[in-house]
Amino acid sequence: MKRALITGVTGQDGSYLAEFLLQKGYRVHGLVRRSSSLNRERIGHLISDRNFFLHEGDLGDSMSLKRVIEETRPNEIYNLAAMSHVKVSFEVPEYTADIDGIGVLRILDIIRSFDPKIRFYQASTSELFGKIKETPQNEMTPFHPRSPYGVAKLYAYWIVVNYREAYGIYACNGILFNHESPRRGETFVSRKITLAASRISLGLQEKLIVGNLDAKRDWGFAEDFVEGMWMMLQQESPDDFVLATGVTTTVREFIEWAFNYVDIPLVWEGEGVQEKGINSKTGKVLIEVSPQFFRPAEVDLLIGDAEKAHRKLGWKSKTTVKQLVELMMKSDLAAVSAPQRDFAMAYR
Ligand code: NAP
Ligand code: GDD
Repeated sequence: MKRALITGVTGQDGSYLAEFLLQKGYRVHGLVRRSSSLNRERIGHLISDRNFFLHEGDLGDSMSLKRVIEETRPNEIYNLAAMSHVKVSFEVPEYTADIDGIGVLRILDIIRSFDPKIRFYQASTSELFGKIKETPQNEMTPFHPRSPYGVAKLYAYWIVVNYREAYGIYACNGILFNHESPRRGETFVSRKITLAASRISLGLQEKLIVGNLDAKRDWGFAEDFVEGMWMMLQQESPDDFVLATGVTTTVREFIEWAFNYVDIPLVWEGEGVQEKGINSKTGKVLIEVSPQFFRPAEVDLLIGDAEKAHRKLGWKSKTTVKQLVELMMKSDLAAVSAPQRDFAMAYR
């Protein structure tokens, strides 16, 4: 039986990957960190699986990483743990560098000294492209990160390449474009929108206040993407791959589709921070813009070219962005309709 260790198992991707690997017959070990209240909603349904185990540790703590890797002796490590919010990284830049950058070095060096045969997946990101140099972006596109998060992930990218070249470790960077799901954190824009549209349609929220409506992202479905992570570790030799849908959408369009799902047609009036999204049936202002949600430096446009992953791994994104909006809306409508399962307001 193959053994996998997933860091970030309590996160969106970690929970889908754990499900995927359990279905593949793996013994799955997850790294969890202590918090003052339990945050295991996404993996609650897996806890009773006899092949699923949790271990306390932290990417900032080499000793815990060493202990967990030595105890679990994984064949594959999926490093998904990170301070993953781009805007928050401007507020906690040093922490972000330590966890998202040096944390990766910590794991790689334990692999090097303990068992160099362990295969390693690094959750790299389209944020590396930042101020984009070409469209669409692929594995050859030059990097220009625009946030402390992106810069930390750039260090992580190169230390993965370095340990591969220097020590022959099977280590891969999955350069993933945005991927969302009903399990997406509530402060990322997709989920903030689908939760707000659901609540507004039921009279539980007045308005949705957002930042940059013009930002464009290549949004896919997280469940499709975790399969690509696994595929990267099943090849003859390690390599880096872009995973993306190849379609880009503005935040504004995402909002329109979410509100359309609950039969609220929007018209837009004004520009910049004065722009408003108005319910064209009632004339009520439902969407406003606040600089509070702007970033000191923005990534304006992302659109990925996953041709290499398709050709070499056989991976392709299966879910369109419109299907993604629908499945998130369906799930959030059900969640907010059941008051005991409602979530706290999303502020970021
Ligand atoms: P997420 O939902 O924010 O999950 C992050 C996970 O990392 C959580 O389990 C979190 O634990 C854990 N974590 C954070 N700091 C940690 C630390 N110091 N020690 C141990 N664990 C820590 O992120 P996601 O969307 O699943 O993304 C997974 C990975 O892919 C991240 O590295 C992210 O940067 C990267 N990525 C994501 C996307 C995307 O669109 N989703 C695209 C490209 C790359 P808690 O639950 O305790 O907070
Ligand atoms: N979060 C947020 N909240 N973003 C907003 C808002 C808002 O109210 N209004 C507009 N946006 C814009 C952001 O400025 C950004 O351009 C875009 O919506 C997407 O923001 P997020 O959903 O926060 O995601 P992200 O693209 O910054 O980062 C995500 O994707 C990366 C891959 O490209 C994260 O998952 C990163 O961890 C990941 O690496």
